[in-house]
Amino acid sequence: MSPFQITRTLPEDATDAALRADVLAGLTATPKTLPPKWFYDAHGSELFERITTLPEYYPTRAEREILIDRSAEIAAATGARTLIELGSGSSEKTRYLIDALTSLRTYVPVDVSESALTQAGRALVAERPDLDVHALIADFTGTFTLPDTPGPRLVAFLGGTIGNLLPAERAAFLSSVRALLSPGDALLLGTDLVKDEQVLVRAYDDAAGVTAAFDKNVLTVINRELGADFDPAAFDHVAVWDAEHEWIEMRLRSRTAQSVKVPALDLAVDFTAGEEMRTEVSAKFREDGVRDELAAQGLKLTHWWTDREGRFALSLSTVR
Ligand code: SAH
Ligand code: TRP
Repeated sequence: MSPFQITRTLPEDATDAALRADVLAGLTATPKTLPPKWFYDAHGSELFERITTLPEYYPTRAEREILIDRSAEIAAATGARTLIELGSGSSEKTRYLIDALTSLRTYVPVDVSESALTQAGRALVAERPDLDVHALIADFTGTFTLPDTPGPRLVAFLGGTIGNLLPAERAAFLSSVRALLSPGDALLLGTDLVKDEQVLVRAYDDAAGVTAAFDKNVLTVINRELGADFDPAAFDHVAVWDAEHEWIEMRLRSRTAQSVKVPALDLAVDFTAGEEMRTEVSAKFREDGVRDELAAQGLKLTHWWTDREGRFALSLSTVR
């Protein structure tokens, strides 16, 4: 077996069908929404990597700090031989974990972005020729088959990406993660924490406008894939803190009254001036909430680590 394999778990036309269904449902709903997983084409993945280096976007630095400080403890607690990472992106922070897991044989990055998986996988096998890297192009909210590799398994879900799922989606997601785990396996979960509103809003609406470009990239994806005629310049990026739900909501606001055509869906969509469409939420958490959500799906939180400023948490949980 070559040290780097990449497997597509869904045929490309299934991806097309899912995009059509999501865009049709979202653009005909009131209020309109657009589905976040379509942010991450090759350009979107590149823009996200730029977000992670912005001065305002603290989550990546905070999580990296925890991984640097705690990877040895995570290795001792799990003894993982297989590491499965959901929404792995560039796998940049994962290096600390991979280097600390002394029994690790196989790394399974799972992502919808083929470009991110290919780049990350190639870089990793060049550095670590002893490691089997088996990348999966898959939707982590759906079902996918994992390669048959030796346990213990550690499933990692970093970056606070769980906060991009709505509460009911999180419950379904954690339940399916639970189903991947056997006794002795563990889940390592990264969650961004509730904090000062200004700090949160700035992290999702940076001065250089990279997050705005990232948010608008979903329009470019729909133009390319479905022949739509969205003008990204005719929308403004908006980030608001929803104190009731404790999440940041990303929206695109139509600057004028306009009509957009989506030929592949045989659809014309009217926007009023100032109309806002939700593109993504990024929920922020508290320790009790994380423990309860895990417990509700049969997972027991055993460790809770934060960065020194208490901005972000990594938790480890096991099957009860
Ligand atoms: N883990 C990395 C990247 C986080 S960004 C970090 O911490 O920096 C979120 C990642 O999840 C992106 O790489 C994106 O392509 C991927 N992603 C988003 N929705 C997904 C889905 N439904 N299924 C699989 N991957 C998804
Ligand atoms: N998981 C990241 C987060 O919630 C994703 C993200 C960062 C994001 N910035 C964004 C998603 C802007 C949409 C728009 O922090």
